[in-house]
Amino acid sequence: MGSGVKIPTRTAAELEGIRAAARVAAGLRKALRRLVAPGVTTMELNDFADRYMRERGAVPAQVGYRGYPYAICAAVNEVICHGMPDGRALREGDLVTLDFVVELDGWHADTAYTYAVGRVSEEAERLRKAAYAAMMKGIAQVRPGRRTGDIADAIMRTAAEGGYGVVAEFGGHGIGRRMHEPPEVPSIGKAGRGSMLKAGMVLTVEPMLTIGSPEIEIAQDGWTVSAKKGGWAAQFEHTVAVSAEGPVILTRL
Ligand code: MF3
Ligand code: CO
Ligand code: CO
Repeated sequence: MGSGVKIPTRTAAELEGIRAAARVAAGLRKALRRLVAPGVTTMELNDFADRYMRERGAVPAQVGYRGYPYAICAAVNEVICHGMPDGRALREGDLVTLDFVVELDGWHADTAYTYAVGRVSEEAERLRKAAYAAMMKGIAQVRPGRRTGDIADAIMRTAAEGGYGVVAEFGGHGIGRRMHEPPEVPSIGKAGRGSMLKAGMVLTVEPMLTIGSPEIEIAQDGWTVSAKKGGWAAQFEHTVAVSAEGPVILTRL
């Protein structure tokens, strides 16, 4: 897996380009956190995000991506990912994952975060925390000489500790001039396998965890991915640079 696939490494100047896009993404994530509340619709959050990016000279890269129409994905409760914003209001107790890609001067940064809407159940909060921990444990493996399978292994172990499912069908990816570049960064895999990481590579780590079965179901709209058995899901994503000093999380202020 991965051998023969050319994985770009970035010069310091190129990395600055991704970093600038990532700064906008981190700022938007922070702004969205304050807006998420009972009564707010995911379309209102989408419109805010669209405006936020454009006001900063950036482009919401998801708009038009394979025909996807919106600046953000908004995944509520049992929706795992690629949920489309709509006019329904968020309700107290919901979990909502907001995922978006900022393009600035031709460079991309990708981040996602699961927010609690008002007060949520202990079960929901535990899932949210576990998904965050799984992402961070995965990110800790982002070092020269490690392989993408080491990231997956760390994610799987962290999820298993809490008894959560890990979605197999979607994972992280290289990122830079395009939203999705090599390598694939699966959330399911084996330690010591997959593409070897080198300083200068930039990739995302974005595990999706579920309560119960991680089996997916795709809606009629062709986008919305839900847990087939209806368990709630959570997902966090950062854009991370590989460096000799270890992982550098770019999508963080
Ligand atoms: N942000 C997503 C990712 O993490 C991509 C969303 S697909 C889109 O890779 F079509 F909605 F843009
Ligand atoms: Co994303
Ligand atoms: Co991504």
